[in-house]
Amino acid sequence: MKDTASRILLEIRDLETHYDTPQGLVRAVDGASLTVREGQTVAIVGESGCGKSVMLRSIMRIVPKPGRTVAGTIRYLKPDGRQVDLAQLPVDGPEIRRIRGGEISMIFQEPMSSLSPVHTIGSQIIEAITLHRDVTRGEARRLAIDTLAKVAMPRPEQIVDQYPHEISGGMRQRAMIAMALSCEPRLLIADEPTTALDVTTQAQILALMRRLQQEFGMAIIFVTHDLGVVAQMTEFVAVMYMGQVVEAAPVDELFFAPRHPYTHALLHSIPRLGQRKTGERLMSIPGSVPDPYSRPPGCPFHTRCVHEDGWRCRTELPELRPVGDGRTARCHYAGQLDLAGISRQGKSA
Ligand SMILES: Nc1ncnc2c1ncn2[C@@H]1O[C@H](COP(=O)(O)OP(=O)(O)O)[C@@H](O)[C@H]1O
Ligand code: SF4
Ligand SMILES: [Mg+2]
Repeated sequence: MKDTASRILLEIRDLETHYDTPQGLVRAVDGASLTVREGQTVAIVGESGCGKSVMLRSIMRIVPKPGRTVAGTIRYLKPDGRQVDLAQLPVDGPEIRRIRGGEISMIFQEPMSSLSPVHTIGSQIIEAITLHRDVTRGEARRLAIDTLAKVAMPRPEQIVDQYPHEISGGMRQRAMIAMALSCEPRLLIADEPTTALDVTTQAQILALMRRLQQEFGMAIIFVTHDLGVVAQMTEFVAVMYMGQVVEAAPVDELFFAPRHPYTHALLHSIPRLGQRKTGERLMSIPGSVPDPYSRPPGCPFHTRCVHEDGWRCRTELPELRPVGDGRTARCHYAGQLDLAGISRQGKSA
């Protein structure tokens, strides 16, 4: 769905989430901005360590200590039309706990990060349902079985009484998704949900998420290392580098005509999309992400950028600014550089 008329559901502006460690300050998220509309699917890509997971956890207010959101806003549109700044809510207060799981849910690469090993699948989903919905335990059990069926879980009536270790990895992934969807969230945050799965299960889970998204009309923020999955799953992409969104655009435009040198490097560093294998780290570009304890001044990408100008790039931080219809990029020379893209199929454009 490429619906720019829908309302803005989540608007992250200049978000900063830092880790104060004995070795120094890590600016894991360092001024990131991102807009997500109702019902939209947005992919987030970028090399490991660029702050994708920390940004997503910041939305849910579940950044592990010593991480802390210290600046910026996360404006979220409540179902009643009110806007609330999630960044201002106490991390364990009643309002964020109502929103977390009830309106915004998160799924992870590793299902055991949200499933408990000592409770049955059913009791965990029932717990989530009764926390957020006014139903009896009997009704909640029925809803839990229905949700398991919706995520194409085989034999949901039996699985509901089983423990996570009694089922396969792909089924655990489905159980986690079922738990996340059980309260019909308006926003699903998926942090590399299929990276650890084999090709067949990955394809099934992705197809499932697409179907559920259409059925529930929820928005999805989706982190993946796989540009093939981006092309298949989403209509809008945000590229992150060193804690900042450096480019955001509709998928076709971003693939065909990248505006930021980092995006260009990512697109051209991957094997052709037809050749990928699941679990492979697809993105690797020359040089490496700088040490988080010593961020480069100026544009954070200047140490690896072939278009670095020798002065401004090394001293002045570029702003995220509009570069065409619905697009933004954070480069002093965005729109002026000749950056070749690729097609959705991965061919050079
Ligand atoms: N507990 C922590 N202590 C210190 N730094 C951390 C911690 N967790 C994450 N970071 C740092 O935050 C940055 C962003 O990490 P992350 O969001 O996990 O990256 P991504 O998901 O893009 O791979 C990295 O530099 C990482 O080292
Ligand atoms: S601002 Fe300069 S260093 Fe940064 S991406 Fe643009 S050209 Fe490269
Ligand atoms: Mg991550």
